[in-house]
Amino acid sequence: MEKDIILELKNVNKVFDESYAVKDFNLYVRKGEFVTFLGPSGCGKTTTLRMIAGLEMPTSGEILLNGKDISQLPPYKRPLNTVFQRYALFSHLDVYDNIAFGLKLKKIPYKVTDKNGKVKIKYRKYTRQEIDEKVNKALKIVDLESFECRDVTTLSGGQQQRVAIARAIVNEPEILLLDEPLGALDLKMRKEMQLELKEMHRKLGITFIYVTHDQEEALTMSDVIVVMKDGQIQQIGTPMDIYNEPKNAFVADFIGESNIYVGTMIDKMKVRFLGKLWDCVDDFPINEKVDVVVRPEDIVIHDENYPGVKAKIVNKIFKGIHYQYTAMVGNNEVLIQSVVDHPIDIFVSLTIEPDLIQIMHREYTSNIYQDAYINKNNKVVFAGTNWDCDVTQLVAGSHLDDEGYLITPNGKKYDLNDIDVIAEIDMKDIEISDNLEEGNITGQIVQMVWIGDHYQLIVRTEDEDDFVVDTEWTWNEFDTVSVKIDSSKIKLTLKADLSKYEV
Ligand SMILES: Nc1ncnc2c1ncn2[C@@H]1O[C@H](COP(=O)(O)OP(=O)(O)O)[C@@H](O)[C@H]1O
Ligand SMILES: [Mg+2]
Repeated sequence: MEKDIILELKNVNKVFDESYAVKDFNLYVRKGEFVTFLGPSGCGKTTTLRMIAGLEMPTSGEILLNGKDISQLPPYKRPLNTVFQRYALFSHLDVYDNIAFGLKLKKIPYKVTDKNGKVKIKYRKYTRQEIDEKVNKALKIVDLESFECRDVTTLSGGQQQRVAIARAIVNEPEILLLDEPLGALDLKMRKEMQLELKEMHRKLGITFIYVTHDQEEALTMSDVIVVMKDGQIQQIGTPMDIYNEPKNAFVADFIGESNIYVGTMIDKMKVRFLGKLWDCVDDFPINEKVDVVVRPEDIVIHDENYPGVKAKIVNKIFKGIHYQYTAMVGNNEVLIQSVVDHPIDIFVSLTIEPDLIQIMHREYTSNIYQDAYINKNNKVVFAGTNWDCDVTQLVAGSHLDDEGYLITPNGKKYDLNDIDVIAEIDMKDIEISDNLEEGNITGQIVQMVWIGDHYQLIVRTEDEDDFVVDTEWTWNEFDTVSVKIDSSKIKLTLKADLSKYEV
């Protein structure tokens, strides 16, 4: 193991009520790093932090601190301290006593040699002077030097959070865990505290593990960002890596503003999207459908006659330093940032440098259900629902007889009951509706990504089956919707050997 690794999570899983809050989590953290867990609400950030702190036990996997398994250590024996969003300060104590509280209770081991020469461990408390020194040092780091005697209830939100941080760092932890510590502050205070926390990290020189759902906060503060979704790591990297080379459409959409399009690889390092062939620097198999990501600041606006893709500017917002334009290329929206002032409603030409076109494997091209089966009524069962599929597609030219047996063109007869199949639904054969009665199954929208001219969204059913749907309409995350599928369009493939089912 590398010497400077302080914390390691190996294959960590956490299951609550049969569903994964954290899945297959693998991460190492170097001494002194500022590492941020970033992801939407509910993606498992707090649960992961609580497992590191010892407030939650992993269902499986290992957590190593300085190479030693700490999973059996209770929280107070781990050299870690946590700062939560809700700073539970003691309102009856002043600032000094809030910070000194833990120190006053702490028992410090020391060695004594008795008269027989035996070494014994004894415990003592910190002296008044030691406590004084530690509290003052912590107050200095959080920039509250003259606040010792203040009643905590008279402090602003930002000041209270500083006291909470001081209370954590006064114990000189090896790792400071921070769970959305700025979440309760207003925007201006947050921005100030972000810079100050970064400065505290520098002064203390200890490892920080920070949790936030705010991508800008993560980009500003971190050495390393761990992007999470659904309890799983999507990408680990520096803020630059994650911004410039997002691994998938989710990361691209979550971090910063981006344009995402469906493209096709036409040739070696040539991709077609926005109705045009572009040079790029990524090599993908020819004819593969890909997700293409372009950052708004990487698109250059030229005169209409300049070689590039023709677009019409339809919207413009001044953002302080730059303008943000929306242009249309056919039905595709293009978001552009530029410091140059252009009028709206004009036609322009757009160019993008090849190395600024980011190409990624498409995560979803169709919906595939691997563990479907046919029941005794010849219905296909998956996602907890019976579907009226055309089962005769399993053998070309076959039909069902009166008793429901499958009869092949050469007269063989099969009982399809219980046979395992793979069901595949093309994205274009799925629709969603807000009329819950209308569809085959209901679920909640758990993710929405804008892809050029439509949204791709994930509807998750109560049984945690996902349906990926392309739609032109705007929905809201967490809406409950019904999923409409034309069952006759569901494609079935046999998983088992059909001959075993001959009758
Ligand atoms: N004690 C618990 N019991 C049951 N489910 C939980 C518990 N804590 C968290 N969860 C679930 O685990 C998932 C991850 O939650 P959490 O780690 O709090 O996410 P985040 O901090 O990223 O918002 C959520 O689906 C949440 O409902
Ligand atoms: Mg949380």
